[in-house]
Amino acid sequence: MPESSETDATVTIPARMRAVRLTGHGGFDKLEYRKDVVTPRPAVDEVLIAVGACGMNNTDINTRTAWYSKSVTQGTDAGGSAGFGEAKTDDSTWGGGGVAFPRIQGADVAGTIVAVGAQVPASRVGERVLVDPWMRDAQDPGNRALAGYLGSERDGGFAEFAAVPSVNTFPIQSPHSDAELATFPCSYSTGEYMLTRAQLSAGETVLITGASGGVGSGLVQLAKRRGARVVAVAGKSKMEAVAALGADWVIARDDANFESAVRAAAPDGEVQVVADLVGGAGFASLVELLARGGRYVTSGAIAGPVVDLDLRSLYLKDLTLLGATVMPVGIFESLVGYIEREEIRPLLAKTFPLDRIADAQNAFLRKQHVGNFVITLR
Ligand SMILES: NC(=O)c1ccc[n+]([C@@H]2O[C@H](COP(=O)([O-])OP(=O)(O)OC[C@H]3O[C@@H](n4cnc5c(N)ncnc54)[C@H](OP(=O)(O)O)[C@@H]3O)[C@@H](O)[C@H]2O)c1
Repeated sequence: MPESSETDATVTIPARMRAVRLTGHGGFDKLEYRKDVVTPRPAVDEVLIAVGACGMNNTDINTRTAWYSKSVTQGTDAGGSAGFGEAKTDDSTWGGGGVAFPRIQGADVAGTIVAVGAQVPASRVGERVLVDPWMRDAQDPGNRALAGYLGSERDGGFAEFAAVPSVNTFPIQSPHSDAELATFPCSYSTGEYMLTRAQLSAGETVLITGASGGVGSGLVQLAKRRGARVVAVAGKSKMEAVAALGADWVIARDDANFESAVRAAAPDGEVQVVADLVGGAGFASLVELLARGGRYVTSGAIAGPVVDLDLRSLYLKDLTLLGATVMPVGIFESLVGYIEREEIRPLLAKTFPLDRIADAQNAFLRKQHVGNFVITLR
């Protein structure tokens, strides 16, 4: 540790640590488990976290496979195991740049502060924290062009220790385990941002696709928390679990009469907001289901990024299309409050130890789960 940093005398911080490094774009063989990675040191305005658990997300896989590259036009799962041969490497991250390998991935960090940089109060050592994965410019935090993501533009939580800016770490009081807390950061903050962006309010009806997944199961709860009515879309085997989260109606995603099934469920046969994570061939129906003045918001395109849009529906119904990725300051802090007040709950589908990360991604890609997968570190 640098002389200027404060450490927890009760925790031994080793010089080297266990971590999984992504060594390039491609298949599971690009995930390298090591026991000799140099433990990071917190910079002056950073803290060092002993990672208790780190949630998994599609973005880990999408970055590994380079699905974000515009040269890829298929759904994310198609290359999940082996990568996409057609992908270019210079636009392979969410932000349109390339990855600096080797990279420690992992956006969803829950753990304890064990050391702080010189400008961070020593009293923070020992705090249990949840990390906001959006790394913002210190001077211009609202500037989306300067934002980076934990595990993409800087090393993340698939490691025993992670150094992150102090401003990104939120103290949390909760009876949940670190593994349960690690289900929240990426998924639920994305869900809350989507609903904020679409200005979903009490009494409105929202249609949520991919409602069984990490973001979708958060969206259902966050929409109910706002007093909205929820029409959720899920695979047949997961419909019951999604209803148990509070969805008012659950429609099977492969329902042959999908559009009429939603119309039959939703009051007045239409919805004010669509929160979509799936895209692909189903996109056109989602737009048709929107009421006049309705808002469509997307954060993902798991079934395919290239969709058909009838512009007549867009302009004749005064619709608004919204994207949601780099969220403003404040969303994450609100989320921590919802967790502490137990207004939302975690859905921990499965945990895996760090050295089984490839098995974890393999299982995650099968999409049999409800909720989130988490890697446990301790
Ligand atoms: N922009 C952002 O900042 C951000 C943040 C987080 C996530 N995302 C994106 O949002 C999407 C959802 O993330 P997540 O973590 O909620 O995913 P997840 O846990 O993998 O769940 C996605 C669910 O979508 C459903 N689905 C519908 N059509 C599918 C298809 N063709 N292939 C596979 N699954 C399909 C599946 O549930 P059923 O079987 O029940 O239908 C699946 O379990 C991903 O594309 C992810 O990359 C974006």
